[in-house]
Formats: sequence, structure tokens, C-alpha cells
Amino acid sequence: MKILFYDTKSYDRESFDACLADFPTIEIEYTPHDLEPRSASLAEGCDAVCGFVSSDIGERTLDRLHACGVKLLLLRCAGYNNVDTTYAKQLGIRVMRVPGYSPEAVAEHAMALALSCNRRICKAYNRVRENDFSLAGLMGVNFYQKTAGIIGTGKIGAAMCRICSGFGMKVIAHDVYQNDSLKEFVEYVTLEELLARSDLISLHCPLMDSTRHMIRLETIRRMKDGVILVNTSRGALVKTDDLIEGIRMHKFGGVGLDVYEEETNNVFEDRSDEILEHSVTARLLSFPHVVITSHQGFFTREALQAIARTTLENAMDALEGKSSENDV
Ligand code: NAI
Repeated sequence: MKILFYDTKSYDRESFDACLADFPTIEIEYTPHDLEPRSASLAEGCDAVCGFVSSDIGERTLDRLHACGVKLLLLRCAGYNNVDTTYAKQLGIRVMRVPGYSPEAVAEHAMALALSCNRRICKAYNRVRENDFSLAGLMGVNFYQKTAGIIGTGKIGAAMCRICSGFGMKVIAHDVYQNDSLKEFVEYVTLEELLARSDLISLHCPLMDSTRHMIRLETIRRMKDGVILVNTSRGALVKTDDLIEGIRMHKFGGVGLDVYEEETNNVFEDRSDEILEHSVTARLLSFPHVVITSHQGFFTREALQAIARTTLENAMDALEGKSSENDV
């Protein structure tokens, strides 16, 4: 089986090449281009393609992949909101993903963002580099004995519940399904109650029509003053303009974002030489208590190794015609 890997960086090649020897029937070709309608034609002669979170895998891309004879779309990530899965099914293109490579990687990053924005770590770091040892403007709050509200308690949300509990926080959660393994220390509540009671809100549900812009002016208004908001899930869970409005209303004690609505053109690219004329991200970065990272929650050695192995195992399952729980 020949797979074309889109949007590959050096670290992707390293992790995939390291386990390729265990999959002798698989051949990989790498391209730095992301998967979108124009680049889809590069897959001519390949049996499968591998895409990532920023790939644009709608009807036009799928049509071209189909015309190239591609039968398998491997996602080396958990989320698949960027894929028109219904259309892929119609074309007979099988879609497989890596659902749970390392939930702790993302949850630990969520807590890192919560701590960084709360204790103004980026501001403090820059100050000390300039021999400015003053503390004004750096005051945060204790997490100990505060309430953490976790929205979505699947694999990553559950890991975040355990981390918050380890910090001595009271943990409340909201999910459409309750996770029995958490019930000893997590109290499930309605979304309204979670918004009203939480000192820290962390988002861990997938992006779907029902969750798009779940954090908007109306929901922000129901939050406690001084709340810390963290999003490591998908950017469009939060309506950015409303978040900015909320920040200007002094609602937030801190905001930590690993994902944001505008990220698609930025993710994993060096744009430091460009003038980002219409960027709301730049507006967000102007606030002293906002910390943004570029979709790096998954980016640990353990997670990359697990992603590579599971992606190639998915390819083998497809090659051998086996069904899989990683089918989308
Ligand atoms: P999961 O499928 O294990 O858990 C998602 C949970 O959200 C489920 O329990 C589901 O019932 C719940 N949910 C669905 N609709 C909801 C709603 N309306 N309100 C509250 N909860 C709802 O997924 P997992 O592995 O925990 O990943 C969560 C998300 O994290 C992914 O969808 C993906 O968008 C994001 N992610 C981000 C990464 C990063 O690098 N920043 C890496 C991996 C995933």
C-alpha cells in the first residue's frame, strides 16, 4: 500500500519512519503541502492519503482523491470535523482516525495554559529577561479549593478532571453522556450550572453543529467574574469576537487557547515575517492575561509515537479488509 502523507514536518517523518520497519507492506511518500482541493491531485498513483487537523477535506478534495483512485483517508489526529464524512462514504473512501493516542498530553497542556494565564508566566518571563524584577500585574489566584468545570468528559476531559482533582480542586462537569469512571470525584451538572459555578472552565468536547460557538456572549455573561477559560479542543467552540467582548467587559481572570477560529492558515507555519492585517488573534494577543499556543496539545514524544503506530495499524486493517473502532 502506498500512502501520501500531506503537511509533513520533520517530526512527523521521524516518528513515522521510526516504526515503518514493522509494516513492510506499507510505502510512504511525504509532501509538505497540506491536503486541500488543489493538492489532492498529488495523490495520483497512491492507495491512501494521510491528513491532519488543518486539512480541508470537503467535497472538492474528496472528488479529486476519488478521481486519483484513493480508497483510504487516514487522519493522524482525533478530531474529524474538517472531513465531509457523509460524502466520503458516498464515494467509497474509508476514513480512519486516531481517537485516543495520549489524552494526558492534551490535558497536561490545558493545565499548563490555565497556570500560565493565571500566573502571567509569559509576561513574567519577558520581564525577568529585561532585568525587570517587579511583580505588579502578575498576581493570580490559587487553584486549590476552587471549582474546575470540565465540558466534555471523554478521554481528554477525564484526564483533565484527574489533573484538577490532583490540584485539590472541586471538579464539576457537563457532558451529554456521563463517564462512570469519574463519578467518585466528579459532580455532573447542567451547562448553566457549570458556567455559573466554575472558577476554571476547560473545553474538551468535539466541534459539531450543536457545540459550535457554545462559548458566546450569552454563555460568557453567565460565567463568574474572574473565570479562567481554556480551550484545547477546537477553535470554533468559542466565538472569538464575543470572547474579545467578554475580555473587554473584564469577565476573565485569564484565557488560554491552544486552538482558535483563525488558526487554519497559521497552524504549524512560520508567519513571523508577515503583516497579519485582519487578524483577531493579534487583538487577542494584545491582552495581558491571554496565552495562545499553536495547536500543540498533542505534541509530546509519547503522543507522536502512538499516532504513528495507530495510523499504520489503521492502514493495515484497511489493507486486510478488517473493520475497526477507529473507522469514522
Ligand atoms: P472523546 O470523544 O473521548 O470525548 C468527547 C466528549 O465530549 C464525549 O464524552 C462526548 O459525549 C462529549 N460531548 C459531545 N457533545 C457534547 C456537548 N454538547 N456538551 C458536552 N460534552 C459533549 O474525545 P477526546 O479524545 O477527549 O477529544 C476531545 C477533543 O479534543 C477532540 O474532539 C478534538 O477536537 C480535541 N483535540 C485537541 C488536540 C490538541 O492538540 N489540542 C489533540 C486531540 C484532540
